[in-house]
Amino acid sequence: MTESSATHPLTSAQVKEITTKHTYGTWRKQKGWNPLHVTDAEGCYFTDAAGKKYLDFSAQLMCVTLGHKNPAVIQAIQDQAAKLAYVGPGWATDVRAELSSLLIEVLPKGLDKFFFTTSGTEANEAAFKIARMVTGKTKIISRYRSYHGSTMGSIAATGDPRRWAMEPAGKIPGVIFAPEVNCYKCPILHTYPGCGIACVEYIEHMIANESDVAAVIVEPVVGTNGVLIPPKEYMPRLRQICDKHEVLLIADEVMSGWCRTGKWFAMDHWNVVPDILTTAKGITNAAIPLGLCATSRKIAAYFEDHFFSHGHTYEAHPLTLAPAVASIKEMKRLNLLARANEMGGYLGEKLHGLKPKHPSIGEVRGLGMFWAVELVRNQKLKTPFNTPKQKIAGEPMLVDKVAARMMANGVYINSWMSHFVIAPPLIATASELDQGVAALDEALSIADSEIEH
Ligand SMILES: Cc1ncc(COP(=O)(O)O)c(C=O)c1O
Repeated sequence: MTESSATHPLTSAQVKEITTKHTYGTWRKQKGWNPLHVTDAEGCYFTDAAGKKYLDFSAQLMCVTLGHKNPAVIQAIQDQAAKLAYVGPGWATDVRAELSSLLIEVLPKGLDKFFFTTSGTEANEAAFKIARMVTGKTKIISRYRSYHGSTMGSIAATGDPRRWAMEPAGKIPGVIFAPEVNCYKCPILHTYPGCGIACVEYIEHMIANESDVAAVIVEPVVGTNGVLIPPKEYMPRLRQICDKHEVLLIADEVMSGWCRTGKWFAMDHWNVVPDILTTAKGITNAAIPLGLCATSRKIAAYFEDHFFSHGHTYEAHPLTLAPAVASIKEMKRLNLLARANEMGGYLGEKLHGLKPKHPSIGEVRGLGMFWAVELVRNQKLKTPFNTPKQKIAGEPMLVDKVAARMMANGVYINSWMSHFVIAPPLIATASELDQGVAALDEALSIADSEIEH
């Protein structure tokens, strides 16, 4: 009998059987799905039904920024549920006003009108609709190595292979893709700084040749697709291009926001204010689903005299807003900005230290407490271990083998294509970071044994 069955009517085996038989496992073939039965989580660890503890080296889906079971966040949910669990989005509430005031303090200056959703996906849907309504134009430029969400509009704007299944019929029209910024493996075969940031200049070429472009959407620091950090000239230049052509700039900070990169929002690294900023995940420490679409006053002004043609039953749901208030206050109280920089620097040093030891590491890169370790079969040619086609075909991926070994050793890491995204809760201590790096160090022998000689 498992520990969990003492307090739960089902055995752990039954929980897993019902889960896999009757619910979908996301982004995978369903056959062979064997999820861990998680029963508890606290701080930087979560626990399975057998009582084994795992270090959460990627804060689940890069979202549990304050660590699991933050008491202030839990209290806020409980208090709000008791006070006012729900009223429709047409009413004013204390919590809506309090959160709005806090958001104005932490968001890039000038973003001061908010639409609250229940996911990052819906925040991007709102952004696209707002961009189309305000500009009267249609097209959205996105980039290949990106993820913007799973519904029709946001998956259409997703550059990575999760989009493929929806093409062409299920996809909203008007999305076109620019090359991503990737100075490790440039998609247009340039080398920084001699390139003159050709990847962003090409976006201007696209806008000029497409016409009818409403917006450009970027993850300022690309998340799941490998913590890709643009050179310092990129965002200021993109801002100039967008202004020149009257195209809106949307920053998707669903993953890169909330101190993760060592600033409140990644755009702050370049002092660039987007027209629209979307976010979710860490906004409530992931304890309740909440997304945010924040717009400039100029966009807000447009809707003074135009119909705002968008809404949800659960928009500005009081229960979703209260933990966001608590999370922002906790981020400030715990000084997570300073912590992300300090401990992120420590983590980065440790990860860089792995590179000389492991021929399978192509690059270690990161910012704040947001890191990627990219694996290659061949360091010179920068050949990834697996391809997007293999991922979609459900073939075994090398990074998943490494991640499985780490799980066996009590450390969870997010793996994707040929890299890991390392983004522990920002409260992680040096010894917790050491534990994660040591597990990666050990498991990388699997990748090292499969490199090309
Ligand atoms: C950059 C980015 N945008 C959008 C999304 C979609 O957010 P959600 O899963 O909350 O719908 C994600 C999710 O991982 C993301 O990383």
